[in-house]
Amino acid sequence: MAILDKHKILETNATLLLVFSFLVVTIGGIVQITPLFYLENTIEKVEGMRPYTPLEMAGREIYLREGCYVCHSQMIRPMRDEVERYGHYSLAAESMYDHPFQWGSKRTGPDLARVGGRYSDQWHIDHLRDPQSVVPESVMPKYGFLEHRKIDGKYIADVMKANALLGTPYTEEMLANAQADFRAQADPDSDYDGLLERYGDKVSVRNFDGQPELTEADAMVAYLQMLGTLVDFSTFTPDASR
Ligand code: HEC
Repeated sequence: MAILDKHKILETNATLLLVFSFLVVTIGGIVQITPLFYLENTIEKVEGMRPYTPLEMAGREIYLREGCYVCHSQMIRPMRDEVERYGHYSLAAESMYDHPFQWGSKRTGPDLARVGGRYSDQWHIDHLRDPQSVVPESVMPKYGFLEHRKIDGKYIADVMKANALLGTPYTEEMLANAQADFRAQADPDSDYDGLLERYGDKVSVRNFDGQPELTEADAMVAYLQMLGTLVDFSTFTPDASR
């Protein structure tokens, strides 16, 4: 009883209640946050992650420019309905080269974290041009203009340099060859050995939009088709040691 009486003092004095609430929240915060500073790494290392190729990076830039993230998330939560619909829940490492990350906060359309390889390139081109032509009830806007906007990758090295500054491990060689790699990825007749050497032989080299010119649609589809394809979940086991 005595302790409850003392609590009454707190409850009837607004200033005192404020001071003690602040104290409690501060202690709680410190307990949660301090251990993070003693962990060497909060992102589990995962095999298969690599930085975006120059063409994928350009696609990502267009994704940001067009605000696709307003309607689409890129984070599959570890809940049964999501995992059954979209695939393995997203790992922190899968966004480690995203500056800024594209987790999103709202889904008007589906999550795109693992959309790569789910549809053909042609499906994406048709869908971007006129979403209702493939999904009649879709409320997604048309992005057909992307196939008419030519790109040459002139500034892509600058974007990559900015990302390198933020910690993405682009090498000098990747930066020096950025524009060549940019063109090579959308041209299967080109010499793309260097591209595969730098980014790995799982990189898709195709004419993504089917047109002879290199367009924003090429970059966008290259980006969408790699989303969620880097980590091999048939061999992945979560690190239980932490
Ligand atoms: C106004 C909201 C909205 C915006 C903005 C939007 N989308 Fe969508 N998106 C949707 C909806 C709704 C669907 C589901 C119906 C459909 O497939 O069209 C969808 C579906 C998709 C799909 C198919 C996903 C799947 O798993 O079936 C892709 C890929 C996609 N959008 C890419 C994009 C890209 C790229 C952009 C930006 C250029 C974009 N969306 C902008 C609403 C939006």
